[in-house]
Amino acid sequence: MIIRTTCLLTLLLAGPVAAQQAADEVTTEAAGAGEVRGLGDAAQAALEAKRNGNPVIAEDWMVAAANPLAVEAGAEVLREGGSAADAMVAVQAVLGLVEPQSSGLGGGAFLVWYDAERGELTTLDGRETAPLDATPQYFQDNAGAPLEFYEAVVGGRSVGTPGTPMLLEEAHERWGKAEWSDLFDDAIALAEEGFTVSPRLATLVAEEPEDRLPRFEATAEYFYPDGEPIREGDTLKNPAYADSLRTLASEGAQAFYSGPIVEDLVATVQAEGGLLTPTDFAIYRVIERPAVCAAFAGADVCGMGPPSSGALTVGQILGMLDNVDLGEDPLAPEAWTLFGDASRLAFADRGRYMADSDFVPMPTEGLVDDGYLAGRAEQLRPDAALDTAEPGDPEWDHAMLWGDDQSLELPSTSHISIVDADGNALSMTTTIENGFGSRLFVRGYLLNNELTDFSFATHEDGRSIANRVEPGKRPRSSMSPTIVMRDGAPALVVGSPGGSRIIGYVAQSVANMLVWHMDPQQAVSTPHLINRFGTFDLEAGTDAEALEQPLQAAGFEVEVRDLTSGLHVIAIEDGRLIGGADPRREGIALGE
Ligand code: GLY
Repeated sequence: MIIRTTCLLTLLLAGPVAAQQAADEVTTEAAGAGEVRGLGDAAQAALEAKRNGNPVIAEDWMVAAANPLAVEAGAEVLREGGSAADAMVAVQAVLGLVEPQSSGLGGGAFLVWYDAERGELTTLDGRETAPLDATPQYFQDNAGAPLEFYEAVVGGRSVGTPGTPMLLEEAHERWGKAEWSDLFDDAIALAEEGFTVSPRLATLVAEEPEDRLPRFEATAEYFYPDGEPIREGDTLKNPAYADSLRTLASEGAQAFYSGPIVEDLVATVQAEGGLLTPTDFAIYRVIERPAVCAAFAGADVCGMGPPSSGALTVGQILGMLDNVDLGEDPLAPEAWTLFGDASRLAFADRGRYMADSDFVPMPTEGLVDDGYLAGRAEQLRPDAALDTAEPGDPEWDHAMLWGDDQSLELPSTSHISIVDADGNALSMTTTIENGFGSRLFVRGYLLNNELTDFSFATHEDGRSIANRVEPGKRPRSSMSPTIVMRDGAPALVVGSPGGSRIIGYVAQSVANMLVWHMDPQQAVSTPHLINRFGTFDLEAGTDAEALEQPLQAAGFEVEVRDLTSGLHVIAIEDGRLIGGADPRREGIALGE
């Protein structure tokens, strides 16, 4: 069934947004998304609201994600009384079809869940794992030199055991109310009847070099039918994906961890140089982990701990900034001098300490300790950048000195935010890593290249790197699915794609709402300023460019560039749900 309903109760209210500013920021991608055929009235209205810079406001439930067809599938589940976990399954199933370059059954995800009945937060780790046969030298040549990045990405070597199928089932078993097998109906129908290729998908396919996406026969047959790249507006069918979803619906996730599907996946990966075996699939587990929280602006910013660096690094940035005055102006050079150096200090700790804590000891609590962050914040000045940003010395009981990490992460990924009628909240960031992942396409979906999130180097100055490859280990992530808690209840559900820039996108959007009092649509539309390892990235074509000269004068290196976040935010305020979807991508927020 393809959903074509109207949300009668959805209120699309003009907020206090600087509408012209947000409209100016709407990219051709988002504008093109307005022409998606077959969208319901409410989804069309939500696209219009985004173009006008207005938040979407609802009373009972809300879902925000990267593609309107996926959002509609989730909305239908919520409208029929399903939980946020049910809706997430429907959203992910459609995203794997209409946004195949970003996430899907061949990838992994992290999920943060607020349970309204228990008043508790928990997280699920559905991250991919390295093959048991992998060694720390996995991404090095025979001379011990790190491989060139795309040489490692494209093909079987980068593929980790996917976690997404098991994560979907685990979330549904814990928190689902709807019938599992019904949650795939919309995605199956779209895959069989065809969906409209979006501008973003068409552009990304057209931009792929010859030696990446077109390189593998099965991949080329799907994305380059008759030898030409799929185009915006084409109707694309994916019967193989429909079959995969039918198997997931009828047999459950186990069918993706043993049996014929695994035989196909393993054969494809091994034929292209990878080391995954059926054993890697058989031993795969989704892991429940405690949420990691940091205090900021009278709230607790909570998210995914190791193997993600997300909550720790977002928490460190905001936790340091809690000790300074960011002022009233969200684009003041002084505020961004403080923000930039807090980010550099947090990324210094990230590079030194953060990895899969099941494999390496980590000072997880020490890294977001209030006293530690207050001490780190003493270095921050509003008028001058730090000469160098060095890792700190957090409190922990394990005297281990790591080398600094050298992994490269490029933006892809997708984020889903949902609040259901029972008040449960879900924040899930989902990925196949690079755009189109490993480029290997099996049974209608792409396989991840998540293993290139490991450090290719094993040592630095004779010291082991925490995020080096090890058998069965999960690569460090930057994904930052976040739920901000205030007075014991969720206040914001936030997340974004964007590689290691995810951390800055999420930290900025939280500050936009908690410090500079923006509504969610303003918060995601505001120009980005991102500092990870030193260079300040300012978003091209926006008011952020005005900070180029003052930030250079403060001592930063500055680069003006595109910054394509994909933030999806839901604020819960005075009994209302207020949603915002990033104008740089194609998604919407929808609620009733
Ligand atoms: N591959 C994106 C991330 O995990 O951060």
